[in-house]
Amino acid sequence: MSTILVTGGAGYIGSHTCVQLLTAGYDVVVVDNFVNSSPESIKRVEQLAGRKVTLYDCDLRDRKALTKVFTKHHIAWVIHFAGLKAVGESVKQPLRYYDNNVNGTLVLLDVMQAHDCRNIVFSSSATVYGQPEKLPLTEDCALHVTNPYGGTKLTIENILRDLYVADPRWQIVILRYFNPIGAHPSGLLGEKPNGIPNNLTPYIAQVATGKLPALQVFGNDYSTSDGTGVRDYLHVCDLAAGHLAAIKKIDHSGLYVYNLGTGHGYSVLEVLHAFEKAAGKTIPYQIKPRRAGDVAACYADATKAARELDWRAELGIDEMCRSLWRFYTQNPQGY
Ligand code: NAD
Ligand code: UFG
Repeated sequence: MSTILVTGGAGYIGSHTCVQLLTAGYDVVVVDNFVNSSPESIKRVEQLAGRKVTLYDCDLRDRKALTKVFTKHHIAWVIHFAGLKAVGESVKQPLRYYDNNVNGTLVLLDVMQAHDCRNIVFSSSATVYGQPEKLPLTEDCALHVTNPYGGTKLTIENILRDLYVADPRWQIVILRYFNPIGAHPSGLLGEKPNGIPNNLTPYIAQVATGKLPALQVFGNDYSTSDGTGVRDYLHVCDLAAGHLAAIKKIDHSGLYVYNLGTGHGYSVLEVLHAFEKAAGKTIPYQIKPRRAGDVAACYADATKAARELDWRAELGIDEMCRSLWRFYTQNPQGY
């Protein structure tokens, strides 16, 4: 079976993808510098899949170390998750974000090219659509970003487009994720719950565990069903499956772009109530002013991925909340 290099494989989405790759029979090589993860997640991946991962503690920008990985392994596809992803932090540290995300990708692409590996799946984000031009969002909607994190994603998408024009032998798959949440059903893998979270569901989970007093709902005066923001939440296991669908289905050169979402939007209060059901407790909340930079609603038209990759999100909001709650109760300190 072919070997897949997973950059950022110890992270939240990467670790769930590694389990599915190993289970499907692929050999998996992970490169991660653990800036936002720990080698423990790879141990858990191995435990869940019953197979070993080849792990390199390596920064993507370290060309020498990355070259060694490509010299040692014949890589069929690269699934490129490695990157920094906190929007607020990116506003404060734009140079760090561009350096890590864009320079890391440039080194990776250059080393791939030098080793005749031209197959890559890249983690992009719905953030590249900025203020949605229409809903649901289709892949051909206009792109404009509103923060440096989004800037790194759009820059990398542009680099990939230019690369494909220069050398049409590449197979490039750009996956634009909507809002991945939830955890592995075993409760062994999830997103590490450190610090005060910026994202909705980790925040709700910390209120449910008593670490934080109440959810702050950012605005209830949007033109949505209940006035709170609407997003397309998808289960991280469904998202992971999207990557396997891409490497299975794409078998000729091209540049392919897919939205990965459910196509369905949930409001902040709907997510809160689903979480209350999962945790079996009431979760206090307060209505606060809108958060700067937020859009009212954002959800995907995911029919292109269904048509071309035969991929659909299958798990609903209740299972997303149940699995997240299981992960938090089993790993109160993270790992
Ligand atoms: P994560 O932080 O859990 O995982 C990213 C991994 O990359 C971490 O293990 C980190 O240590 C590693 N990493 C970062 N910079 C590195 C470098 N220079 N060299 C080597 N390793 C490095 O994040 P995630 O949620 O799993 O996200 C994975 C990818 O998906 C990211 O590119 C992110 O921007 C993108 N994405 C995430 C979301 C989301 O909501 N989680 C939404 C859209 C897109
Ligand atoms: N929200 C609250 N209270 C909170 C946190 C969030 O009310 O404490 C609301 C937000 O206002 C928004 C919704 O919950 O309406 C979702 O917010 P998140 O921060 O969880 O997610 P975003 O849609 O803002 O952004 C996330 C990632 C981005 C990524 C985007 C699309 O943080 O990096 O999804 O994939 F680009």
